[in-house]
Amino acid sequence: MPAVGQNVLRKEGRGKVTGAAKYVDDLSFPGMLYGSTIRSTIPCGRIRSTRPEFDPSEWVVAGVPDIPGKNVIALIEDDQPCLADGRVRHVAEPILLLAHADREALAGAKVAVDYEPETPVYDPAASPRVFKEILIEKGDLGKGFSRAARVVEGEYRTGHQEQLYIECNGVIAVPENGGITVYGSLQCPYYVHKALVVLLGLPPERVRVVQTETGGGFGGKEEYPSMLAGHASILALKAGRPVKMVYDRVEDMLATTKRHPSIVRHRTGVASDGRIVAMDIDVLMDGGAYLTLSPVVLSRGVLHATGPYRCDDVRVHGRVVMTNTPPNGAFRGFGAPQTLFAAEVHMERISEALEMDPVRLRELNLFRPGDTTATGQVLGADCSAAEVLREAVARTGFDARRQALSGTNAGIGLSLFFHGSGFTGGGEVRLASRASLALTPTGARILVGSTEIGQGTRTIHAQIVADALGIPYENVEVSDADTACVPDSGPTVASRTCMVVGKILQNCALEMKARLGSLSPARYLELHGPLVVTREYEKPAELEWSDETYRGDAYGAYGWGCNVAEVERDPDTFEIRPVRLTAVCEIGKAIHPTLAAGQIEGGTAQGIGYAILEEVVFRDGAMANAQMTNYVVPTTLDTPPIDVVILESAYPHGPHGAKGIGEMPIDGPAPAIVNAIRHMGVDLRQIPATPERVMEASCVSP
Ligand code: MOS
Repeated sequence: MPAVGQNVLRKEGRGKVTGAAKYVDDLSFPGMLYGSTIRSTIPCGRIRSTRPEFDPSEWVVAGVPDIPGKNVIALIEDDQPCLADGRVRHVAEPILLLAHADREALAGAKVAVDYEPETPVYDPAASPRVFKEILIEKGDLGKGFSRAARVVEGEYRTGHQEQLYIECNGVIAVPENGGITVYGSLQCPYYVHKALVVLLGLPPERVRVVQTETGGGFGGKEEYPSMLAGHASILALKAGRPVKMVYDRVEDMLATTKRHPSIVRHRTGVASDGRIVAMDIDVLMDGGAYLTLSPVVLSRGVLHATGPYRCDDVRVHGRVVMTNTPPNGAFRGFGAPQTLFAAEVHMERISEALEMDPVRLRELNLFRPGDTTATGQVLGADCSAAEVLREAVARTGFDARRQALSGTNAGIGLSLFFHGSGFTGGGEVRLASRASLALTPTGARILVGSTEIGQGTRTIHAQIVADALGIPYENVEVSDADTACVPDSGPTVASRTCMVVGKILQNCALEMKARLGSLSPARYLELHGPLVVTREYEKPAELEWSDETYRGDAYGAYGWGCNVAEVERDPDTFEIRPVRLTAVCEIGKAIHPTLAAGQIEGGTAQGIGYAILEEVVFRDGAMANAQMTNYVVPTTLDTPPIDVVILESAYPHGPHGAKGIGEMPIDGPAPAIVNAIRHMGVDLRQIPATPERVMEASCVSP
């Protein structure tokens, strides 16, 4: 029986359930020290001096002079130092590192830092520095607007969001083999490897990065672990001993990346029949103090900014700018949840302005196969916007429910969205990801740099390989993501692990099957010795993209989604309670239906938090609610029943037709919920929809 499409046992499930799985804080090495970080307490300024308030002879203290290589966290641009060199740009910026054998002693170690403060910038609109600017142009905007009967304008705002993986960031650096080995809670071991080679000035073969069992990532372990691994390595090399650094929740929330806040403006021309004839969109994102991954977050943001709607005359202008808060970075959805929130709330406002049914307005404008996106990409037969909308509307009895709830303290709203799978544009070609498959006496072992972070990487990869080789799922093993043993399969991000890396693995398995011929694995090994097949990403021939003009095929494939949310408003407290959420997602192929539904449920719950609960409060450049008691994410009791519907329309270049699924589910809940609030006559254009905001908007609305 084929494994694909079956709910097989998770590869890492037994270890997690029995407690045998080892997370980084479960590990210990002989002579190991514990490390900690002295961080900036001001948002911006010069450092005059630092003075430890303890006897330094009993401690390992490391600063900039102890960095063997270049003082940067190598990623897109080398602008972020590993340790502040004379000046700081944000609160919690690392300044000095300490290590001690006694973990408790670290908490009490104080270092006096003398600063010369400068004036911080918190308002992105007033930022002196643009990290990245992107312009997408299609057709002739002036001509488009000249055909418009109505012009609808609006501004929409989204806040920070904290990834809040269960396991905080943590690593252990072990000096060995004339270099360093880092074990850690990681999404992207090869990002860490690349950063350490530069920071430590070591040849690549002297740096080894090993992922330990990882308790969630959501993008939050995409860039910061390179910083943390750098700190632990600097201390370990200075001490000549292993150093463990595991953040507690407060430090993790204060210091590490969040979702970029956004301000998105729409000016839309609409013909009298409801057809959208011109879209002028401006996207402003707050990048925080350093560039990190902001250019690619902005890129995905602007590429999704039109929503899944056809229009011949479009301009999308995006900027991400510097402010004096900790750098914002990757978070599930990577810019798209921000711009899709704006697009879908704006769509609802257009339907109000035209007094047109919101479903009808969307039906009229949504992408269909053969339509072109803002970058001129022609959508294929797997474009499913109409299908997901139709399914969600039918399943929820949307029209009747909308009638029934009218004029009550409850509302129903929907959102239609899409999400590109894999790296943007030429990104996959530049990554040139590789995957390997090693023959074993009973089957095969998968060798990929892709990480299991709770989403099911190992399981779905093994299912794909088992079917391509024609062997039982149980006979496929998966190696640890250890840079000493596995090739660089690209980062585990961007909803690419199934569609892109899964496809490379499928090609490896097909080649291995051909090499085996009629021989069993054991017989092949006996006759010919070891067999390892390695394949690289192969760009589908028809995909074309230009980074210069931002024209072409932005993504190989898109997933399509429609959410319907029903909410109630407490008449006294103005709290919004989601009552029911329907999530229809078209994902090409559900390799493992239960895991796929789990991705949708989890992403939807995280999107509900984004919509109504999760507010990162900044005071003087520091997160003021850096703890789980007052940064509130949805618990089971805050999460309504989620009705998950998976539709499948195959992408020809995905394994078994699969597209991405990891990120898309978080795109839809916030606009669906805010549109449900709009159904109560409340003009809200900002998330999170906290009781204060809902009260304010309720009092000015009719
Ligand atoms: Mo990342 S937000 O895990 O693509």
